[in-house]
Amino acid sequence: GERQSILDTLRLSHEQLLEVKKRLSAEMVRGLSKQTRDQTSLKMLPTYVRSTPDGTEHGDFLALDLGGSSFRVLLVHLKSGKKHTVDMQQKIYSIPQETMQSTGEELFDHIVSCIADFLEYMGMKGASLPLGFTFSFPCHQSKLDQGILLKWTKGFKASGCEGQDVIVLLKDAVRRRQEFDLNFVAVVNDTVGTMMTCSYEDPQCEVGLIVGTGTNACYMEEMRNVEVVEGDDGRMCVNMEWGAFGEKGELDDFCTEFDRIVDESSNNPGKQRYEKMISGMYLGEIVRNVLIDYTAKGLLFRGKLSKRLETRGIFETKFLSQIERDRLAMRQVRSILQHLGLTSSTCDDSVLVKEVCSVVAHRAAQLCGAGLAAVVDKIRENRNLNQLSVTVGVDGTLYKTHPHFSSIMQETLQELAPQCQVTFHKSEDGSGKGAALITAVACRIQNGGQ
Ligand code: BG6
Ligand code: GLC
Repeated sequence: GERQSILDTLRLSHEQLLEVKKRLSAEMVRGLSKQTRDQTSLKMLPTYVRSTPDGTEHGDFLALDLGGSSFRVLLVHLKSGKKHTVDMQQKIYSIPQETMQSTGEELFDHIVSCIADFLEYMGMKGASLPLGFTFSFPCHQSKLDQGILLKWTKGFKASGCEGQDVIVLLKDAVRRRQEFDLNFVAVVNDTVGTMMTCSYEDPQCEVGLIVGTGTNACYMEEMRNVEVVEGDDGRMCVNMEWGAFGEKGELDDFCTEFDRIVDESSNNPGKQRYEKMISGMYLGEIVRNVLIDYTAKGLLFRGKLSKRLETRGIFETKFLSQIERDRLAMRQVRSILQHLGLTSSTCDDSVLVKEVCSVVAHRAAQLCGAGLAAVVDKIRENRNLNQLSVTVGVDGTLYKTHPHFSSIMQETLQELAPQCQVTFHKSEDGSGKGAALITAVACRIQNGGQ
């Protein structure tokens, strides 16, 4: 009936998913080319990371990891020679919502005060170690130790940062504090850090994927195709910034009215359209808007809209994962609904809410799989291979905690890129370790090594 026809708008056919893959493939090519890159939604940003680690990296490194659900400062100790010999110590710090949305000075002063606390805690105040900065936002780079923020995404909007080099912003904050010096070596996107973390253990890992607060991917592209960087030999990792796909209308025929409402009431209307259909920061909002619609039509909660349901952000990612965890435990669904203040629910309501969550997450996983299909097929075609075997390093809370996301995504990927055998490697160490590895390689080269 009416309930199902609303849900049907959120279902995608094989043909539609194939179309998503095709459009994304075309945008990748256009984003890499000098002539067309200004007109595309995919920025395909060069990262100046040219090879995956070879196990000879060594030394002590600091890493910062900013832009996911937690901000971390890490000390990474790499031992050369044998592989898998990494010690890490880390501390997680919170970034208050007000700080994320205040001024750049305040944000970077806060970051530096967390670094100060960490150095104090580790008893290393005097040491000026090389530092790799995982900064999970789109940055223009013309070298490894530069990152000009193109625009904030996700929940961040500190003023005065867009168009600025985040290394300079950090250095200024360190100078203001007048307590210690740091040696900034690399700015790294979280996808790139994740790929490096995983490729340290699996050399076949040439793709990095994040499905967390936001979503994005990177992969090893042939230098000859990276037109904005001089040179044709070898490969370079490209940060796709695929979350922005759809900004030129590429997803309009697959969007629902719920996607449009979520987009319009977000921090950045019109931006990051693909991300808004896939990642943790937005899925709960899609679900909430579907539930509002059902209720307004009298199909749910006895037609009674509650203040809670009308509150932005109540449906956190963790509820989406919890609600689908136990196939039959409807009582659990009801207790989650109660926790959300949706007390007047019946058993029927619980079934429906669960179905909405499942359809929204299913679509997200399929869309993500379609994107990955474009990426792995591009790598395969670059190398003129009939079959490609490749590993994807993955991180992000949604991917890691949702009970079905990864299997649906892999199923879609297999359907859409049957010539690729793809292995997924979950990163357990975060992207900071990868940032340290990148920093280590850069230091080796700086010091005249190979
Ligand atoms: C972490 C990585 O594990 O995952 C971060 O270290 C990354 O760099 C994050 O941004 C993404 O997941 P979420 O769910 O925290 O946004
Ligand atoms: C957003 C950011 C991107 C990051 C992704 C995952 O899409 O723009 O840089 O990789 O979130 O954290």
